[in-house]
Amino acid sequence: MTLAIIGGTGLNQISELTLSGEQCLATPYGEPSAPYVIGELNGQRLIFLARHGNPHRLPPHKLNYRANIWGLKHLGATDIIGVAAVGGITEAMAPAQIAIPDQIIDYSYGREHTFFADALEHVTHIDFTEPYTPALRQRIIAAAQGLDFNLVETATYGCTQGPRLETIAEIRRLKRDGCDLVGMTGMPEAALARELGMAYANISVVANWAAGIVDGEITMAEIEKNLQIGMARALKLLQAVVAA
Ligand code: HPA
Repeated sequence: MTLAIIGGTGLNQISELTLSGEQCLATPYGEPSAPYVIGELNGQRLIFLARHGNPHRLPPHKLNYRANIWGLKHLGATDIIGVAAVGGITEAMAPAQIAIPDQIIDYSYGREHTFFADALEHVTHIDFTEPYTPALRQRIIAAAQGLDFNLVETATYGCTQGPRLETIAEIRRLKRDGCDLVGMTGMPEAALARELGMAYANISVVANWAAGIVDGEITMAEIEKNLQIGMARALKLLQAVVAA
């Protein structure tokens, strides 16, 4: 098994990674977000990709998801953990909470969202009943035992287009739809990994209460402050996953 980590906002790099190299790839789909960082975490080979580039410069709707995922497959990744900052909608999803979603609703649009578009020998529909690979989710949940924070072990992730945050009415709608979390990068990343036959799971880190859940505007300062705590937790969790 070769594990890859796609780091989101607040996780542009993993300084604990013992580097063995960086790889810039040209893919048939264009350029990935950043060079792939290849290294070892606690003695395990690992590939790391900064989803928004390093430094952070690419917004969610401009990401080349296909290049990112194709590159990971090309480098031999078998399992991908995507780490993502999200807004919290339901009660358990307070700022700095970590959740391992098990379902997705995709509200994004206009993104290149499939490898199965052109020059097809036959039309391909992947199964996406369980959008996150159950075994990889369970591995993350099991690794969290003994850490000094709790995980929310199931959640529905709503993927919005961004880069703006949502309106109060949009979040009310997501809540009615059954979303617990809202983020901007969960899709098409998860589906593309499935199309290429890689296991994929997501670690969501709550950066803020979503619009209208509490009074007042959402500030970048608040997001950054909560992500400092939340991403430190995500990193501990990743280390536990690798060590298990
Ligand atoms: N909405 C969408 N994406 C996000 C949010 C949010 O409130 N916070 C962090 N990523």
